[in-house]
Amino acid sequence: MSASDIGVIGLAVMGQNLALNLESRGYSVTVYNRTAERTEAFAESRTAGKRIHPTYDLESFVASLETPRKILMMVKAGEATDALMEQLLPLLDAGDVLVDGGNAHYADTERRLAQAHTCGILYLGAGISGGEAGALHGPAIMAGGCREAYIVVGPMLEAVAAQGVGGACCAFLGPASAGHYVKMVHNGIEYAIMQALAEAYDLMRRVLGMSGQGAAEVFAEWNRGPLASYLVEITASILRYSDEESGRPLVEMILDTAAQKGTGKWSSQSALDLGTPAPSIAAAVFARIVSSLKGERGEAEALLPGPEPAADVDRSELLDALRSATLLAVVIAYAQGMRQLRDASKERGYGLDLSEVARVWTAGCIIRSQLLTPIAEAFKAEPELPYLLLAEPFRTMWIDHHQGLRRTLARAHEAGIPVPVMSSSLNVADAYRTARLPANLLQAQRDFFGAHTYRRVDRAGSFHTEWESP
Ligand code: 6PG
Repeated sequence: MSASDIGVIGLAVMGQNLALNLESRGYSVTVYNRTAERTEAFAESRTAGKRIHPTYDLESFVASLETPRKILMMVKAGEATDALMEQLLPLLDAGDVLVDGGNAHYADTERRLAQAHTCGILYLGAGISGGEAGALHGPAIMAGGCREAYIVVGPMLEAVAAQGVGGACCAFLGPASAGHYVKMVHNGIEYAIMQALAEAYDLMRRVLGMSGQGAAEVFAEWNRGPLASYLVEITASILRYSDEESGRPLVEMILDTAAQKGTGKWSSQSALDLGTPAPSIAAAVFARIVSSLKGERGEAEALLPGPEPAADVDRSELLDALRSATLLAVVIAYAQGMRQLRDASKERGYGLDLSEVARVWTAGCIIRSQLLTPIAEAFKAEPELPYLLLAEPFRTMWIDHHQGLRRTLARAHEAGIPVPVMSSSLNVADAYRTARLPANLLQAQRDFFGAHTYRRVDRAGSFHTEWESP
């Protein structure tokens, strides 16, 4: 057996499909998984006639690779990655390239980068998006860390990536943890968009009494306009899918508690640390948290009454407003994510090109959508753009659609239906476009109880008032 071009460690869904994708692009691949059963099953079921070589211990895996070795780790983020690196690093030579393609926390990536560096290993933290199909046919790859590592392995990653606007949806985005940070914010945006679509579905179902099929048609129709995107498209397909056992739409048979693996939470935690306004991403994380309180919600439903359902709803008018609301919630999710990346880039020295980030997201990834092309153009024209809504065509979208978002929220609140992402999208946009907010009162309160001082609108300086003195 001649030496393989690249090695993949970790044969869960993403690892298997990336190995197959690499092979289909002409690379020979050695694979290894911690448990031999999985390697055997993969080798037997999916690799016949392909230049994919299974190995059953790390020494043979490493020995089978062309030097400098190129290794893609596709293992569970967290302890599993650390445990693997403990075993792997002593087997490698200076100049070998190690890529972590999992959803690692950015702080872990920085620690591992330093660990690899002490052994002369060229390390790359690469966020890979696109799920199973993306991994097999072309994901989006957000790489960061050691530039020399990208020079060696980048052509392979670009070969397997999706083709989007301006070429492969794979790029070296910056030093340190830039790649995993961008992927984390990608997932934050993913959470907000998914929740906004769920809110739209809930309003269709509970205010308009629409069936799964009816709602599917609306999402399919939206997918032909500015909302065209992977997530809207799969939402239409999901709503059409019928459960064989019950004959009902399968979505209705799924327990309403959303799980999460942590990337949306990390994105919000980092937004709070940076002081960047990303409330609808946080609202999406909290929405999943509330959904998980299934038992309590069931009890509260009987104890805390809401409004009676309204009878006089004009269906086409509400659907129109709902499309506006969904569009703006999606645009504002991107706006918040891009703002977070801008602020993080300054604080953490990533030097991100936001136009390039948006371009990498135009295909392959979960948040791919038609909107990403004008987003990339907006940041190309103005790299320091502070907020996406200020640039065309998004400013016009705001002007054309904010009334629809307001009408949707009024309907939702009237009906007692939670719309956390739609409503925080409007709140943050309304706050951003308000020259004078009531924060003057907050400052006065802080000064009242804590002598924290305030500044005045009419002269410079810092002031304190004895508020209770006669
Ligand atoms: C992607 C996805 C993926 C993510 C899953 C589940 O870009 O392909 O973001 O990386 O892990 O979608 O995430 P949650 O379990 O947190 O919903």
